[in-house]
Amino acid sequence: MAPKSLSLLTVISSLLLAFASVEASFGGWQAINNLTDPKVVEIAEFAVKQHNMRVNAMLRLVAVVNGETQMVDGVNYRLDISAANTLMSMKGNYRVVVWDKPWNKERKLISFDKTA
Ligand SMILES: *[C@@H]1O[C@H](CO)[C@@H](O)[C@H](O)[C@H]1NC(C)=O
Repeated sequence: MAPKSLSLLTVISSLLLAFASVEASFGGWQAINNLTDPKVVEIAEFAVKQHNMRVNAMLRLVAVVNGETQMVDGVNYRLDISAANTLMSMKGNYRVVVWDKPWNKERKLISFDKTA
């Protein structure tokens, strides 16, 4: 193969790869690398606060154990958190989903489920 067509092939295949990775990050769930990132903790705190208001609970965030994000019309955060009941100091694990659209200042608790 001539060097020229070889480099064209390289360009095309790297374009395809780039496109494939954009596809994968849009709509798919991506692991959050840093679970102590202030933004992630803020989202988790928000979820606990909203849940407390909705069901009149008294949970307090202990830690974010695991997390993923998904690009939608904004960002979905799916977090596994540990939270403690402030009255009985009993810990539980929860999976929470928060939708965040910072540029519109919109944030919503989608779900808050006990997992353990
Ligand atoms: C994670 O984020 C926190 C807060 O910004 C920072 O202090 C810490 O160094 C980060 N950890 C890693 C592994 O990047």
